Amino acid sequence: MSMLEVEEVFGGICFPGHLHTQESLRLALRFPFQDTDILIVSYPKSGTTWMQQMVTLITNRGDPHLSDTVPNWARAPWLEHHYSAALVKSLSQPRMLTTHLPHHMLAEALRGSKAKVIYVSRNPKDVAVSFYHFHKMANFLPDVGSFQEFLNAFLEGTVHFGSWFDHVKGWTSQVGAMANLLHVTYEELSTDLEGSIVKVSAFLQHALVTDEVNKCAAHCRFSSMKDNKMINGSLVPREILDHSKGSFMRRGKVGDWRNLFTKEQNERFERVVAEKMHACSLEFVWEQR
Ligand code: A3P
Repeated sequence: MSMLEVEEVFGGICFPGHLHTQESLRLALRFPFQDTDILIVSYPKSGTTWMQQMVTLITNRGDPHLSDTVPNWARAPWLEHHYSAALVKSLSQPRMLTTHLPHHMLAEALRGSKAKVIYVSRNPKDVAVSFYHFHKMANFLPDVGSFQEFLNAFLEGTVHFGSWFDHVKGWTSQVGAMANLLHVTYEELSTDLEGSIVKVSAFLQHALVTDEVNKCAAHCRFSSMKDNKMINGSLVPREILDHSKGSFMRRGKVGDWRNLFTKEQNERFERVVAEKMHACSLEFVWEQR
């Protein structure tokens, strides 16, 4: 079995084994947060890279030097990746960190911390479509078969990184309960990029003047990010991400699910969402945008 096919099952969730070890996951659960930290949290394919880019630019007042020269995984390391410990040591303050872990795994480490947490969510239909395409190019994710088969696993929560439903419910249940948590949607970023930059910069207490907001926006647009080697996945070796089978910066659209879902798949998806999310505090605004 190749290194890429190994998976780490931790807390009942499968994680890709080339990035995660039992030890790196255990250490993430005890991560020593500093009050100045900025933590970007998301379920995969929800706009993680977009937020990493946005926060980098905000904290650099729109100057793209860092975002043009340092890969996203080095400037905003994932807490749970085994290679991150050394990178975290070299970060300057405020440290920017990333995680895909569900809330219950990080609750203890964040308790009492003033670290600022930005949770990014996206319409689960678009997450499923983006994740499905990503599986085809990511050699560290299992073969998923047809979209129908992938959708079954996504709805059951048996895909890598666990259940989208549990992830979103867990983190959004903390809105209002955790003082330093901002919830931002992919759809908001897409509809109003500049407004989102102002909102995130206010949350980070890093107010920007209009010219700086515009500079941030210029480097956060899909067209700009698609061409930026530091974030478009092209630095990742072909054995890990097969660039002949897809593109990390794939379409960058709201509502792309309409190109893949059948009527029946959509009806079933809506039923499962209604069933699993009825007690969720999240407002389902995705479809109206
Ligand atoms: P698609 O596959 O739908 O294109 P993550 O970074 O969480 O893995 O999410 C990746 C998804 O975010 C991909 O979605 C990618 O194209 C999209 N994305 C990244 N940067 C973006 C941007 N600036 N504008 C719009 N979408 C972006």
